[in-house]
Order: sequence, then C-alpha cells, then structure tokens
Amino acid sequence: MDSYINVPVAPRGQDVRRTESIKLYGPDAFDGMRRAGALTARCLDGVSELVRDGTALAQINAFVLDFAADHDAVPATLGYKGYQYACCTSVNHVVCHGFPNEKKLHDGDIVNIDVTLIHDGWYGDSSRMYVVGKPKRAAERLIQIAHETMMQGIRIIRPGARLGDIGHAIQTYAHSKRCSVVRDFCGHGIGQVFHDSPNILNFGRAGTGPELREGMIFTVEPMINLGRADVKMLADDWTAVTRDKSLSAQFEHSVGVTADGVEIFTLSPAGLHAPGIELRTISA
Ligand code: MF3
Ligand code: CO
Ligand code: CO
Repeated sequence: MDSYINVPVAPRGQDVRRTESIKLYGPDAFDGMRRAGALTARCLDGVSELVRDGTALAQINAFVLDFAADHDAVPATLGYKGYQYACCTSVNHVVCHGFPNEKKLHDGDIVNIDVTLIHDGWYGDSSRMYVVGKPKRAAERLIQIAHETMMQGIRIIRPGARLGDIGHAIQTYAHSKRCSVVRDFCGHGIGQVFHDSPNILNFGRAGTGPELREGMIFTVEPMINLGRADVKMLADDWTAVTRDKSLSAQFEHSVGVTADGVEIFTLSPAGLHAPGIELRTISA
C-alpha cells in the first residue's frame, strides 16, 4: 500500500499535469521519519566531540560514514548528483555544501554540519552550527539568531497555515535582527526521497501558497547572513559562499505537520540544539 496520498496544489485554472503536488503521509511514515530523524540527530550529537582546533573536516566525514555503517544507515549525500561526501561542512562565510576535505578547523571558526541519513528507506535531514573554541561575539549572536529564525518558521506550522507563512515568519524575524536571508536555497519535501516538492522558501508573504495539511513532511532550513544576502558559487560548483565574505549560519530540521501543530523529527536527544542554548528546553 502507498504510504502517502498526493494533494494537487494547482492554483485554479492551471494545468494540473504541470503543477507539483504535496504528499500526505500516515502514521507509518511518521514512525519511519521519527526513527531516521532520531538517528541523524544522534549523529549530529556525536560529531560535537570532533569540533575542535586542528580537526580536519575529513575526520567529520569519516565519523558520519562510520556512524551510518554502525547504525544500518546510508548517508544520502554520498553520490547525490555527483557529490562525493557523507555530509556538508560549511565554515564561516561558506553558506552551504562545503566539502569535508583536508582543511582544518581553527579556534574561533563556526561551522554548519549537515547530515542526511537514510534509515529503513526514510530520510532524516538536519544541520546545526558548531563553534571551535571561543568564537567572536558577533558569530555567537548570528548563530543564536539563525537558530531562532528556524524555530520561528517551525512554530507557525499547523494545518490551515499557508506555506507562505513559513517564509514570512523566517524573513520577518531575521530582518528584525538586521540579518539577511539567503534566497538561493530553500527547504524541501522529504520522506522516502531526498528532495521532494514543495520548496520551502525562506521568504514570502503571509497567507499565500498552498494550505498546510496534516501528514505533510518537509525540512525547514534557512541560511542567515550577517552581511548581505548575495551568494557566489565556487569553481567546484558546490560550495556557496557569501559574496561580501560575511559570516553565514544555518540550522535545519525535518518536520511533519500533525493534527494540531508540528512534530520535529530531528531534535537532539542530548539537548545539543545550538551552541549556547543547550540547557534551554526547545519546544515547538
Ligand atoms: N542536506 C542538504 C539539504 O539540506 C543537501 C545537501 S546535497 C549535497 O538539503 F549534495 F550537497 F550534499
Ligand atoms: Co535539507
Ligand atoms: Co540538510
């Protein structure tokens, strides 16, 4: 039996064949996402130990590979559209998709580690920021803002809210803190494929877009810059950096729309949600 049904989201009058649809998942799917999400979150908890001065990004990649192998999981990024690594490691002004290569972390660096583990067919996709030693005040502030920006996007999710409400909440919060929102990347539907419809834009107008319904599963993953929003792609065709070299930060959770709100599948079991707010209770 199919584990989902498709809801067409065609605006009235538009050719149905040319419009995307959004899957509605049932309890078994939520269970699969819970297990895949928890595994990804445990992997992101485990990686914290490695984030210190002198660690090569490749060691983080090796950790994710070993963790996956030990837990009956496969890193979704490995071989994805030619990407060669088990995770993405984006340091300082790198916005996303940084390669976990031989480069080393140094005191004061901030790094986003993005892991997607496929477990029992389900994809758990999550990323967090980590700090090396004692980062500058501005970097710490950016990280807290990026985490809160993602949470503002997540908290708005419930049946009846619109897709545009998420981007609106994200944009409004980030701008209120005088940070910018990267427009070149977005969240995505997820489940038994890595990137599905709909796109979850990190900007938008409240009250626009398809209605959220119980059973939808997607990621929320805004990228927030201290400087301007513009990004530039490096020659490797993957690494995205801020054009003005300002610091960038991102958090990502995989979530599901429930009957009365939202469930976060990738919450840290150890409470390591974001540097500096480990001890605060995070609730949707
Ligand atoms: N995990 C990223 C996301 O959040 C996608 C990385 S694709 C890769 O959607 F190929 F760059 F790894
Ligand atoms: Co994602
Ligand atoms: Co991701």
